[in-house]
Amino acid sequence: MSSYLEIARQIAQEAGALLMRYYHRRVGFELKGEFDLVTEADHASEALILERLRSHFPTHGIVAEEGGAVAGRTEFCWYVDPLDGTTNFAHGFPAFAVSLALEREGRLISGVIYDPLHQELFEAERGAGACLNGRRIRVSGVQRITDSLAATGFPSRKRHQNINIHFYYQVAMLSHGVRRAGSAALDLAYVGAGRLDAFWEFGLNPWDMAAGVLIVEEAGGRVSDMLGGPASIHGPHLLADNGLVHEPMLGLFREVFAGSFPTPLPEIQPV
Ligand code: IPD
Ligand code: CA
Ligand code: CA
Repeated sequence: MSSYLEIARQIAQEAGALLMRYYHRRVGFELKGEFDLVTEADHASEALILERLRSHFPTHGIVAEEGGAVAGRTEFCWYVDPLDGTTNFAHGFPAFAVSLALEREGRLISGVIYDPLHQELFEAERGAGACLNGRRIRVSGVQRITDSLAATGFPSRKRHQNINIHFYYQVAMLSHGVRRAGSAALDLAYVGAGRLDAFWEFGLNPWDMAAGVLIVEEAGGRVSDMLGGPASIHGPHLLADNGLVHEPMLGLFREVFAGSFPTPLPEIQPV
């Protein structure tokens, strides 16, 4: 294990412990823009993470969600989500995490997602596999959408422009179900751990997905955009799954993008 991963793990656990102190106090939230919530805990967690990263790696760039740091061009760059699942956190809904990832010359090399409520630490290093609390994890062996459990998310910003409801409905009708738990980082970690078979979402930010993408890849899964193009943490949409349901999911998405819906929406009948 690299010292990068070791330090990222320590920082994520420290930030997670800090989040738990705020969580138990049920902190209030403010609005960031029109719809996005932010809490004191997001800011405190980000400040802690940035302080620690800067003291360990003074030359590394950092991109952090709450704007505490924006990288210029550097060989190493960290992507920091100090609290993924802020809406859940603010309402006391138990699904949130800290997500940290390190990119070297544009390639993800280390990623950590820490869920402080369940004390689950998901981590991956390029070429060395993915682990949950120190034990190797692998994606599931589910081969068909009809046998799968999937997850997705909906953005709080620009939700009126988001077309995901069409994709949600089609996958929900074919699969065992589609979860929408509100933490993209945990959704991706769960694909890596084989708890979910597929995850997709539109409009994520690099800090939401960087660590999770590496965890899925290192757990033997497959990641691309929703049209089958190369995965990018800067891309407009993402599909991450166990690899076996990837082509079937892309086939279904192709139909939906083309406006053809295998399962039509039911008519509302007056009751
Ligand atoms: C959000 C969560 C959510 C996803 C949103 C993200 P935040 O991150 O990951 O699951 O659906 O698109 O913005 O704002 O809680 O860090
Ligand atoms: Ca996030
Ligand atoms: Ca966040």
